Amino acid sequence: MRQPQDIVLLLKAAGEVTRLRLLALLVQGELSVKDFTEILGQSQPRISRHLKLLADAGLVTRHAEGAWAYYRLNRDRTSGPLADWLMEHLDTDAAELRRDIEKLSALRVAQQDRAAAYFATIAQSWDRLRSLHVADSALEAAIVEAAGQGQVNMFLDLGTGTGRMLELLEGKYAEGIGLDSSREMLSVARAKLDAEGIENAQVRLGNITELDDYRRTADLVMLHQVLHYFDDPSIAIGHAAACLKPEGRMLVVDFAPHDLEFLRTEQAHRRLGMSEEQMALWARAAGLAVASCRSFPPSRDDGLTVCLWVLETIKSNDKKGV
Ligand SMILES: C[S@@+](CC[C@H](N)C(=O)[O-])C[C@H]1O[C@@H](n2cnc3c(N)ncnc32)[C@H](O)[C@@H]1O
Repeated sequence: MRQPQDIVLLLKAAGEVTRLRLLALLVQGELSVKDFTEILGQSQPRISRHLKLLADAGLVTRHAEGAWAYYRLNRDRTSGPLADWLMEHLDTDAAELRRDIEKLSALRVAQQDRAAAYFATIAQSWDRLRSLHVADSALEAAIVEAAGQGQVNMFLDLGTGTGRMLELLEGKYAEGIGLDSSREMLSVARAKLDAEGIENAQVRLGNITELDDYRRTADLVMLHQVLHYFDDPSIAIGHAAACLKPEGRMLVVDFAPHDLEFLRTEQAHRRLGMSEEQMALWARAAGLAVASCRSFPPSRDDGLTVCLWVLETIKSNDKKGV
């Protein structure tokens, strides 16, 4: 329970038009201050002031990442239902709010286009670039182990890029599908699968945010070095989770938190790695739990630590304790 003055703070924070617009946008997922300034067309100090009031009242939480800060709705017992109530009663068809959501969609498309343009230019050299940051062999051995013993029926590799995971896990699945939004990356992947004679895998053009055709089809889903291209990785995890069969398992490989800001400008990264706490939160929102997390330190001084998370479906008995 909260003290009366805290409730007043909460209601005052929500009781202003710009802040209601910010909350309505946050219902769509995590956003950075930069995103808000572009969508609302207001200055950064102004937006930051509004966000601080929302954060002080406990309506949103802040996560600093390099030079950027990301905000998300606080889903605790007081703030969560209040935000839900506001969104239920707010007419999101009102011109200003509708425009905000449209601008957010356009912003997301522009961000994806920037990443796609980057991958179009580096497709041929991606396999070499990937190993610059990461100690490949230890990590890959751990991925093979985490895929489990025996063979699964269907393996879905989301953001397959040049198809390295399809190649690595070849013996672990009866049917493998690699999905990617970059034609250039896929053409490298196709050539690789042909050259290796891997016949139980195929790659397809597709977007991680449009996976309806794959709902509940996969025993094993992989997101390998993909999440840091999403402003809100929980959206990608949510779509990926929907592809899992009830007993399915998801493997996520990505960077631990780092401060290499230039990766945003030079290599289209959006997030500077992700922490164990963030992953636990995002997994839970998708109905998954973190079964294990292993870190792999870089093999060179300027490399980055990489983490391998194994996510599994939360059984209904476990949900009671949530
Ligand atoms: C860094 S590469 C990783 C490729 C591969 N998983 C690997 O580790 O070698 C990221 C890949 O994610 C793909 N990607 C990014 N956003 C995507 C989206 N929304 N839908 C599908 N693929 C996406 C990119 O095209 C790119 O091939």
